[in-house]
Amino acid sequence: MTFRLVCSLTALVALLAVSLPAPVNAEKVFSRKGMVATTVAPAAHAGREILARGGNAIDAAVAMAFAAGVAHQFSSGIGGGGFILIHLDETGEQFAVDAREMAPRAGSATMYLDAEGNVDKQAKRQGGLSVAVPGLVQGLEEVHQRFGVLPWEDVVAPAIRLCRDGVPIGPHHLRILGIVKKRFGDDYPETIRTQFLPGGKLPELGSRLRQPDLEKTLRAIARKGSKALTTGPIADSIVEAARAHGGILTLEDLQKYYTEWREPVRGTYRGHDIVSMPPPSSGGVHLIQMLNALESYDLKALGHNSSEYIHQVSEVMKVAFADRAAHLGDPDFYPVPTEWLVSKAYGLEIAERVRPRAWYAKPPWRWGKPVLANVKGPGAPPPNDAGTTHISVLDVDGNAVSLTQTVNTLFGSRITVPGTGIVLNNEMDDFSASPEAVNLWGVQGNAANSIAPRKRPLSSMTPTIVLKDGEPWLISGSPMGPLIITTVLQTVVNTIDFGMDVQSAVASPRFHHQWRPDRIAVERAHPRDVIERLEAIGHQVYVSPYGFGASATIQRDPLTGIMWGSVDPRRDTAAGGP
Ligand code: GLY
Repeated sequence: MTFRLVCSLTALVALLAVSLPAPVNAEKVFSRKGMVATTVAPAAHAGREILARGGNAIDAAVAMAFAAGVAHQFSSGIGGGGFILIHLDETGEQFAVDAREMAPRAGSATMYLDAEGNVDKQAKRQGGLSVAVPGLVQGLEEVHQRFGVLPWEDVVAPAIRLCRDGVPIGPHHLRILGIVKKRFGDDYPETIRTQFLPGGKLPELGSRLRQPDLEKTLRAIARKGSKALTTGPIADSIVEAARAHGGILTLEDLQKYYTEWREPVRGTYRGHDIVSMPPPSSGGVHLIQMLNALESYDLKALGHNSSEYIHQVSEVMKVAFADRAAHLGDPDFYPVPTEWLVSKAYGLEIAERVRPRAWYAKPPWRWGKPVLANVKGPGAPPPNDAGTTHISVLDVDGNAVSLTQTVNTLFGSRITVPGTGIVLNNEMDDFSASPEAVNLWGVQGNAANSIAPRKRPLSSMTPTIVLKDGEPWLISGSPMGPLIITTVLQTVVNTIDFGMDVQSAVASPRFHHQWRPDRIAVERAHPRDVIERLEAIGHQVYVSPYGFGASATIQRDPLTGIMWGSVDPRRDTAAGGP
């Protein structure tokens, strides 16, 4: 009996071995001819295809951005915005393109406040009033015009095909739709109509989601570029849809949108050059600020993810997020003290202040009451966030792109523009509606991030390129609101301080502190004794049931030129060469 069972199992395994693809081995994600890594698996195919056809990193990143906006409409797309960081091999220059959304011209500092100063959170997070002016397509168009080598239509083509042939529904995608079904009710029928089966039925796992409306829109973009979204019938429909849901968006808002080509924010860390996104992202500033502070500690000696290590790094995170709340916003509207924040002198000052424990007790660095770590629920549920996508590309010539794009939270404003397949963002939630108010992520802001017409909301997106001897060494970024910044930080520190290969660096358990709430959030893989020790020295520790971020990272070995791509186990991520 036992023998027969073993035999039949052997036969079954043999049969499967014939019909199944080779098992995935993360170590195998390497190439000499270019590499893509992203949090949206179908977008990786688009990038590999473009690189294989002779496109450069910019072509591949643009193709992936469009494809990601088809495959994971719930995360990012042409109704949203993003940041594009580019390294050009030929000149050694870097460019930071700000395609972040802007507040409509009719937006104001008090637009979400009632007479008592209470914030209407719902209006800020969903429906027409939450929609900021989209900028992504213009950003993609400009970087392609300036640096791309393949025709525009060719880089839009993979996304069009994905609309036509259908996006395979994976477990992450299906879970997102399950959440939508539970939360959205009947207010956003076009989103339900385009993303679900008739009758609002969830699609089957492995089935394909076809998007004919979005296909038409992308064909128009392939023909006319970003103008397809700012003039003519698509633009009219965008304005109509936002206004039908109570919004204030106008055609003039769409037509007067402009990107900003900004000077990247720069720093150094243990012999590496760090290049990242400047304000209106807070990501690059605080990444460099934290690295400057950490540089004076011997992190390796503390031990990776030891309680002392988590303690010291968390204290530095706390300072960064307090500074974020006080000083960060759109630099075109507010004098953000970037130079001071990323200076080595300030980094040293933070390192010195953090060392003596007594300092932590001083306001506003309040201690939380020690509580027992609290794990919610068994198992390892997938992440609860869906609103942002990261794309990293390195081509064979050494050009690199790190691009993070977003509609903010799950399906953004929840509005899909009828007949176009465009999901409109809810980026207005990233503004601070009042000094005490927090956004969906619980991060606080101030006057620096108050709302004004045509101002860009503060972001945490941290597209980053690390250079060694002038050549791209690490290209990294992540989704997940404020956890993006600490995810990129830990990816950089894991590779530089602890010498981890890129796969280990992204897979390692992560932690996060954002000043308020005053607690260290840790992933559940951190050992119990580490958590207890953190609690013993006075930290409040929250063990999250969710993974933190999803690092889509490429690392190039300067010795061999081999490029390694990461596959973050927390998400539906993918990496590969052409
Ligand atoms: N909407 C997420 C971010 O920009 O940080």
